[in-house]
Amino acid sequence: MSLFSPLAIGSQRLEHRVVMAPLTRMRAQQPGSVPGTLNAIYYGQRASEGGLLITEATQVSQRGQGYPGTPGIYSPEQVAGWRLVTEAVHAKGGLIFLQLWHVGRISHPSHQPGADLPVAPSAVRPAGNAMTGPVPRTPSWRFPPVVPPRALELDEVPSVIEEYRNGARNALAAGFDGVELHAANGYLLDQFLRNGTNKRTDRYGGSIENRARLLFEVFEAVREVYGSDRLGIRLSPFGTFNDMSDSNPVALFSYVIRLLTGVRPAYVHLIEARADEGPAATEFSNVSTASLFRPLFPGVLISAGGYTYESADEALATGVADAVAFGRVFISNPDLPRRFRTSAPLNAYDRAMFYGGGAKGYIDYPALNDLPWGEFEPPDATAATALSIH
Ligand code: FNR
Repeated sequence: MSLFSPLAIGSQRLEHRVVMAPLTRMRAQQPGSVPGTLNAIYYGQRASEGGLLITEATQVSQRGQGYPGTPGIYSPEQVAGWRLVTEAVHAKGGLIFLQLWHVGRISHPSHQPGADLPVAPSAVRPAGNAMTGPVPRTPSWRFPPVVPPRALELDEVPSVIEEYRNGARNALAAGFDGVELHAANGYLLDQFLRNGTNKRTDRYGGSIENRARLLFEVFEAVREVYGSDRLGIRLSPFGTFNDMSDSNPVALFSYVIRLLTGVRPAYVHLIEARADEGPAATEFSNVSTASLFRPLFPGVLISAGGYTYESADEALATGVADAVAFGRVFISNPDLPRRFRTSAPLNAYDRAMFYGGGAKGYIDYPALNDLPWGEFEPPDATAATALSIH
């Protein structure tokens, strides 16, 4: 198995296994958090024949927004904007899934309707700072201290589930090939899963079964729209980003992944924790998340986090993952699959341009054809792979 073996995900077929990871870039048009032509160019550049792109996290409601300039999927204007994106990707024969997002407590009253408090499973305030300000990014971005969130009332939970269902319906209307539930990185669904953030005493808190309930109710609502074979889910079992913790993550995520086996999503997408998290490192930071959970999940497993071509190829060869998602190098290499296939060097990424701004650091990374050394591409790409030039 290699990065260039085809792969079935649900009822769809990928021609290769170099997936673009979801990447927040904070460049949606304001007012209204609407994707536009700039975003369509960016995704279109990164599309390839039979390649899967996952969009940046996209809020299912205004309440679900936590950063300036992130796009939404709850208004007709947003649906129309996203249609430009899906058309650009489909024109190149690519596939694109939308990542459905609600940030929960990682928000700030300035992003909320009526300047309300952010909502969360419980009123547990994260460490760190919020991010607020105008779009595109200007020196006036602010990083105010986060506020304690408000615990969702039991009778409010159904409306959150409806927001996800509505987001899925809108994604379908915008032409997405599928959706990915963002249940990772310390946002709302992850906040419900882990007991560092979930202190509820009702049917959504306490036991692992209760803490996983919202995730599976959301899964079911979205499945009714898309079918499980076009629905993926992203988890970060050992991640500490956004001040996350759980007293027994192995038990928690083993339960979740076993249950997912029964509902047959298109894929499960796992993020590796990294040992370089400094003070946030835990006893699990060195554990290979994909290796640990692989035996529990017979379906398609996508692994992400710090991969190179070589380590990705190794993960596929050993069966630890079925596909690998690349984040930062996909930002700076619009034609990443082709570069891997042809052993071409990679462009370096500019971290200062990750979040906010316009075209610079977004759609101006050169593709091979734009570069003088593009001419060194082997004439027969398949032969190059077969010879293991890497
Ligand atoms: C991310 N990541 C991320 N994850 C996610 O699920 N939704 C998102 O919107 C984002 N946004 C985002 C923005 C930027 C600028 C970075 C660098 C990362 C995490 C990302 O998908 C991926 O898991 C990590 O970047 C690790 O993979 P790489 O970059 O080591 O290949």
